[in-house]
Amino acid sequence: MRTVFWDYDSAKMKMIDQRQLPWAFEIAEFETYETTAKAITDMVVRGAPAIGAAAGFGMVLAANQSQAKDRLALLRDLEKAAEILNAARPTAVNLAWAVTRQLRVATNEELDSVDEIRQALLVEAQKLADEDVALNRKMGFNGAELVSDGDTILHHCNTGALATVDWGTALGVIFAAHEQGKNIHVLVDETRPRLQGSRLTAWELKERGISFDLIADNAAGHFMRTGQVDIVFVGSDRTAANGDVANKIGTYNVAVLAKENGVPFYPVVPTSTVDLSLEHGDLIPIEERGIEEVVSVFGKSIAPEGISARNPAFDVTPHRYVTGIVTEHSIVYPPFVKNLKTAVLTEQAKTK
Ligand code: MRU
Repeated sequence: MRTVFWDYDSAKMKMIDQRQLPWAFEIAEFETYETTAKAITDMVVRGAPAIGAAAGFGMVLAANQSQAKDRLALLRDLEKAAEILNAARPTAVNLAWAVTRQLRVATNEELDSVDEIRQALLVEAQKLADEDVALNRKMGFNGAELVSDGDTILHHCNTGALATVDWGTALGVIFAAHEQGKNIHVLVDETRPRLQGSRLTAWELKERGISFDLIADNAAGHFMRTGQVDIVFVGSDRTAANGDVANKIGTYNVAVLAKENGVPFYPVVPTSTVDLSLEHGDLIPIEERGIEEVVSVFGKSIAPEGISARNPAFDVTPHRYVTGIVTEHSIVYPPFVKNLKTAVLTEQAKTK
């Protein structure tokens, strides 16, 4: 089953409610773009490509909700929906990328009726979702070339089927290596504060029968220094033109430890996650979430009442810590400014 999909019978979007895993597997339904935006903010759906797919279908819901009788009125409604969806989470560039792709469809002057635009938006959202699955598999097998039989892989956050429409990015590499029959073991960072590693990555690896150990985030350095990690794979929510990588908070710590200990560090990044308009990673907006995620775990307080806390959801790993970037195009190596641009532009030309 896909993480995000359109139900053609009910004309609703459906998504796995990731807040409930691993305790319950529930499918939530969405009829409006406003509830879709809230689901992105509340992390019913999370992971950059999955958020992008949800936003693509969210634009279809906006068109279906609209009472507009002509294309200009519909475009005004879609622009309003685009603004609300884009504001749902700031770091993952796939969100704005999917919304922009939908606005481009809606402004195609060859479509003149409101219904034609609605239909074209659904076709595009479905295409975007299908492309995600195909390119994830391709990227997974590109990255699996880096994995040797017997490797132990360190992984941060959740980058699997749940973070995408299906298959995954960094976990997709691990699934591909497993499918190739390589004997691998994964060290799974639990990923405080939302525990995407322990709740979601451990669930996906268990479902697929892949060998792993869950570790506390602060154990990663110990395993690297003692020679127990061969390679690190992580995802990215936005990668700047120079190869600086924004990803789940704690990724930077992992990257610095990897370099210090001579462990190769590979972000696995679809070209839709590369933002060529940003020269470097300090220009990437970093989401800061509510402090309840830090001072409590599942509603139970773990700190004194009334204290202050900080909760950045992402960090930026400067490109000097990045060995290479696995994309659906190829494994991109430095100089990233030149080589990332070539990969992105080549893949973009294919979807035009
Ligand atoms: O806050 P989240 O759970 O949406 O963060 C997810 C990540 O950081 C992933 O590594 C990233 O989206 C890329 S993987 C598909």
